[in-house]
Amino acid sequence: MNVEIVNSHNIKNRLEQIAKIHFSAYSSDHFTSGFGFDKLIEYNFRLIEASDLSVVAVDNNVVLGFIIAGEKVSAGVSKFTQENRGWLMLQLIRRPSILLTKIMGIIKTKIYTSQPSKAKFRLLSIATKPGSQSKGVGKEMLHFLEQELLRRGIGCYGLSVKNKNQGAIQFYERHGFVKEKEYLGSLYYFKQLSNKS
Ligand SMILES: CC(C)(COP(=O)(O)OP(=O)(O)OC[C@H]1O[C@@H](n2cnc3c(N)ncnc32)[C@H](O)[C@@H]1OP(=O)(O)O)[C@@H](O)C(=O)NCCC(=O)NCCS
Repeated sequence: MNVEIVNSHNIKNRLEQIAKIHFSAYSSDHFTSGFGFDKLIEYNFRLIEASDLSVVAVDNNVVLGFIIAGEKVSAGVSKFTQENRGWLMLQLIRRPSILLTKIMGIIKTKIYTSQPSKAKFRLLSIATKPGSQSKGVGKEMLHFLEQELLRRGIGCYGLSVKNKNQGAIQFYERHGFVKEKEYLGSLYYFKQLSNKS
């Protein structure tokens, strides 16, 4: 298995596999899991385009997992949102529980403020193909990402994860992430990198 850096120029022939992994690995309470195949291709392309560092784990040309990370990946989410405003509204109407969570989230951000995370560099998305999970793919991708961050002079990074996602929380804590805060149903984690890692 190889871990490789990808970007908007070299990812096109792997986007379908990434979308399939996204669809099957993310749980159904994740808004994007209901996007359907074509929109997930579009969504992940926008994220990779806005990312500073994205990687895929590949074995015999089969993508086993991916990470999308960077300082301004959220710009990719915004671009996708702008391009699909009407379609996204329809999705929210079709999924009232998610619509309610989003509305509550907007109201709560007006009431409860929160300190920004210490880390500007964010891991936005990580997933391993379900049949390949618990075989060290996530660990290899994370290790590759961290070595590349150190090479670029970036000493820390952060992420957020839904507080119900016990598998991912266990994965992050095993890999040295420290909890910064809990805010609106998500846990925020931070990791200080060292050259020994
Ligand atoms: C989190 C994830 C990327 C880990 O990838 P992976 O390739 O399975 O990772 P590794 O094999 O290196 O490590 C597996 C470890 O992660 C933790 N873990 C991952 N998924 C788990 C689950 N569903 N239940 C319990 N522990 C889990 C365990 O500590 C596990 O160790 P074990 O195999 O000894 O039990 C993968 O589980 C995944 O794709 N999850 C769905 C997508 C997701 O939720 N992403 C995070 C969004 S913030």
